Amino acid sequence: MALDKFVINGGNRLKGEVQVSGAKNSALPILAASLLTEGTCTISGVPDLADTRAMGELLGDLGASVSREENGRVHVRVADERQSHARYDRVRKMRASICVLGPLLAKRKGARVAMPGGCAIGSRPVNLHLRGLRALGAQIELDGGDIVAVARKLRGAEIFLGGPFGSTVLGTANVMMAATLAEGRTVIESAACEPEIADLAAFLNAMGAKVSGAGTPRFVIDGVEQLSGAEHRIIPDRIEAGTFMIAAAITNGEINLPNVRVDHMMAVVDKLREVGVIIDKADGGAVVSTTRHLEPTDATTQPFPGFPTDLQAQLTSLLCLAEGNSAITEKVFPDRFMHVAELLRMGANIRKEGPTSIVTGVKRLIGAPVMASDLRASAALVLAGLVAKGTTTIRRVYHIDRGYEQIETKLQALGADIERVSD
Ligand code: EPZ
Repeated sequence: MALDKFVINGGNRLKGEVQVSGAKNSALPILAASLLTEGTCTISGVPDLADTRAMGELLGDLGASVSREENGRVHVRVADERQSHARYDRVRKMRASICVLGPLLAKRKGARVAMPGGCAIGSRPVNLHLRGLRALGAQIELDGGDIVAVARKLRGAEIFLGGPFGSTVLGTANVMMAATLAEGRTVIESAACEPEIADLAAFLNAMGAKVSGAGTPRFVIDGVEQLSGAEHRIIPDRIEAGTFMIAAAITNGEINLPNVRVDHMMAVVDKLREVGVIIDKADGGAVVSTTRHLEPTDATTQPFPGFPTDLQAQLTSLLCLAEGNSAITEKVFPDRFMHVAELLRMGANIRKEGPTSIVTGVKRLIGAPVMASDLRASAALVLAGLVAKGTTTIRRVYHIDRGYEQIETKLQALGADIERVSD
């Protein structure tokens, strides 16, 4: 329901095991990649989220038939290529819609995609996406807030895709997808190294593309005539996993994450260990616990393999209870601090200095009514509520439903006192 809220009574130590869902930020571009073929794509491990459902609806607008099985397996097949307009009403609700632009341009020679506009974590420019697609030979204009792109034939090119904040994840996805059907070789320098982009590259190669360099800042893509349908399983969500690791730490609990890919989270594991969190790599997964004492630390978010911006707010919640001063600097989205004002309402001691939060540890947080604002800030408030003394109510939890599959059910199974109620 759109206006649900969470009611959390803090203080329970979380214990048990939780299965990490498929990665939202892998599923979204991979679903978009199914536009590159007329074959059927079968994608397993797609998390059931507001964002993945929205992407399914957008693919429907674009002539694809999309069906989802209970077990998270999604089948996509493009039946009709005449409609290539991603409307503003869809794109404004989910910025990741922008990643249909590359596939539509490559497969249908043209597309109209609304400019995403900004969101709670800052203005979300797409200039690097457009620069990359122009380098491949696309003509791109803006018309009434829409990107109108045309390309009779895309040609491979050498493209530097770095921006003022380093690499661009969805920009790399868009250019890489378009390059799979371009004529000749494309080299993308300063490409995103995120595991989700490597997962997309693996899917494209399963479709018959020739993509190499995934996971490194240099991608080489040799264009092919056409791509076929393929099967693929989405990697586990490292941001959800990191959120649950912090849930174990903040509640002095012990959580087993059997299917987490620790190799996708070395910066997170390193930082949490510095804070005093115990992370034992069990066979394949990880068991997370603490010694009750949390050390302050300094953290700076960076593109992968650095500490992920998507866990910055959640780490801030944890450091509110460390014994000393921590500094958290946001280098990817400098405005990504919507969680701070709400944490202050819960008794946190945080001072903002430009793109840095100075967090002075407090003895305890106190439950309060707070407001969710964006996906990861909302997760940070849930984490704070789990440990705060008393009751925390979080309104507008639709923000959380965008990126976490039934987070309250998973937390209840670990012993959290959390209820979803309609507001
Ligand atoms: C992806 O967004 C993720 N979303 C974000 O996760 C994540 O925070 C972000 O990457 C960084 O890791 C999806 O994958 C669906 P960027 P994306 O392009 O690709 C600037 C979440 O919570 N930039 O890597 O849109 C941009 O302003 C979401 O799951 C340009 O300047 O992010 C930002 O400062 C939130 N020009 C930086 O680069 C461009 O053309 C990184 O943005 C593109 C980006």
